[in-house]
Amino acid sequence: MMNNYFHYKNEALHAEQVPLADIAEKFGTPCYVYSRAALTDGMNQFKDALQGKEHLICYAVKANSNLAILNVFARMGAGFDIVSGGELKRVLAAGGDARKVVFSGVGKTIAEMRMALDANILCFNVESSAELDRLNEVAGSMGKVAAISLRVNPDVDAKTHPYISTGLKQNKFGVAYTEAIALYRQARDMKNLHITGMDCHIGSQLTETSPFIAAIEKVLVLVEALAVEGIHLEHLDLGGGLGIRYDDETPPAIADYVAAILSGLRGRTEKLILEPGRVLVGNAGVLLTKVEYLKHGEEKNFAIVDAAMNDLMRPALYDAYHEIFPVSREKNAIQTYEIVGPICETGDFIGRARELSIAPQSLLAVLSAGAYGMSMSSNYNTRGRAAEVMVDGSEVHLVRERETVEQLFAGEKIISSVL
Ligand code: LLP
Repeated sequence: MMNNYFHYKNEALHAEQVPLADIAEKFGTPCYVYSRAALTDGMNQFKDALQGKEHLICYAVKANSNLAILNVFARMGAGFDIVSGGELKRVLAAGGDARKVVFSGVGKTIAEMRMALDANILCFNVESSAELDRLNEVAGSMGKVAAISLRVNPDVDAKTHPYISTGLKQNKFGVAYTEAIALYRQARDMKNLHITGMDCHIGSQLTETSPFIAAIEKVLVLVEALAVEGIHLEHLDLGGGLGIRYDDETPPAIADYVAAILSGLRGRTEKLILEPGRVLVGNAGVLLTKVEYLKHGEEKNFAIVDAAMNDLMRPALYDAYHEIFPVSREKNAIQTYEIVGPICETGDFIGRARELSIAPQSLLAVLSAGAYGMSMSSNYNTRGRAAEVMVDGSEVHLVRERETVEQLFAGEKIISSVL
């Protein structure tokens, strides 16, 4: 979506005060471009809305894990929600505070648990009984006590794409609602675990507040039942999931979402943790790409661009919609194009049936690409990953170099012995 940070000035699309055409010229395409002001603005909206409530905003690193982005949030006092040892290393390398890290995910390895315990993270969001056992054992072997919350699956329908819905009974995430109390009892009796909270995350790209409220209601029933047993929690982690506008969705504003959560919590005193990802970065980034060829097929016109499904996988994977705008408004005939990449897959499309006035060499901006764009990119077709740039007012910083082909196969070896 176009916003204050990505906008036209004199027919030229800008990121803050910088023409995107200048960035393409200097750094090449495909290239992700982020607006620092958009990043800080989103974080400030959370902070403002949460004023007066003890809280921690743990940015979900998976949405976009570039160190420069993590650093912007770390400097604003944010915590981080991680799902791997790799993400923990990124957070630490970016200047994040391990004491503000929560570790989510269904498959934590022993090595990852050790790394997180060594770093003294804030809390493990545990997702199964077997994980409780493993964590207790690992912490014990290190002479440590691990702070935990259980990720409870509240069985509510997030009404989002099935691939990114996580809070239903049939999903692999969290512990079953009906088993949660028994598992808390199990955790209480484990020597090397310390219960500090309860966690839930029901899905991503939610555009209504009602599923969040339904989840809170169910979480609070458990919290109250635990209190009766003498298990008192320090924090409630209500996950991420707030959606953004890609097309014509109307998600609640951050302030309204937070207000709804706070009223759902009915003045409970536990510290509130949130794990927003997409809403902080999604509309803070665009993917810049160049038209290589226009091809007029028998039934369709194709604009073959230099970005592909390896750079932005969301359209191929979820049939996701991203707006596409020309970087400079041109006077070519408007035609309807399939915007496709060079990869050898029919699923390699960035946008379908888009009316655009373009010519070969035209630059296009794929909007709302800051979340789950670069972080889900791959090297399919031996394509180096895109460069990443952060704009700050009129300044432009390269925050990740374009990956070279040599880097791609640097770890590979030809077996020289004859078999
Ligand atoms: N916390 C947990 C435990 C999560 O699993 C997720 C996202 C988040 C927080 C952040 O959710 P957000 O605020 O970004 O909705 N690749 C998909 C999205 C997958 C989301 C996975 N979990 C996409 O491109 O739409």
